[in-house]
Amino acid sequence: MSDSFIGALKQRRTQYALGRNVDLPQEKIVALIQDAIREAPSSFNSQSSRALILFGDQSVKVWGLVKDVLEGIVPADAFGSTATKLDSFAAGVGTILFFEDQDVVKQLQEKFALYADNFPVWSEQSGGMAQLAVWTALSEAGIGASLQHYNPLADEAIHREWNVPASWKLRAQMPFGSHEQPIGEKSYIDDTTRFIVAG
Ligand SMILES: Cc1cc2nc3c(=O)[nH]c(=O)nc-3n(C[C@H](O)[C@H](O)[C@H](O)COP(=O)(O)O)c2cc1C
Repeated sequence: MSDSFIGALKQRRTQYALGRNVDLPQEKIVALIQDAIREAPSSFNSQSSRALILFGDQSVKVWGLVKDVLEGIVPADAFGSTATKLDSFAAGVGTILFFEDQDVVKQLQEKFALYADNFPVWSEQSGGMAQLAVWTALSEAGIGASLQHYNPLADEAIHREWNVPASWKLRAQMPFGSHEQPIGEKSYIDDTTRFIVAG
């Protein structure tokens, strides 16, 4: 049995030190992201996940928008480190904004009233699956990324800037680019704490 899938999962890590030294052409990166999201499972095959894929100056722009919002919220003495962090996200090749389409969630709630409470949860879970698929696919292509959550602070500015449909709810941001630093060791809790195997 091939362990290439587990190998890919192990290789995917959070990379904050991003650069622009990526050889893969933009259209191939877009295809990778689209394939990963398209193939990710979703509840009732609802395909509720949406993505806005930003490259170059458009990616820099989104982190500028986040910075503008945070400047009005973060205390002045702490803003320097916040700005440095946001600049590190902007230093990459691009950013994927992950959304969940609330119209899809509402339609499912109406159609399958018995499960109405579950659909928002399943939408979140489907989004997480799409995010992991993209993160792992990028990693396999040698591209580093991290997962950020500046929603809902920057939602309004982002919707306005890219004319994002009102029903798309921003759930996560994934800045990506070249690996500019090695990634450190990861610690794991004991298997006995998290697994029960019976039979
Ligand atoms: C649901 C979820 C939310 C996360 N949110 C953030 C975040 O807001 N900012 C961040 O820097 N990392 C975030 N992370 C990344 C985790 O901190 C990271 O995956 C974890 O520490 C394990 O490290 P690894 O990604 O290198 O395996 C998030 C990860 C998950 C799964």
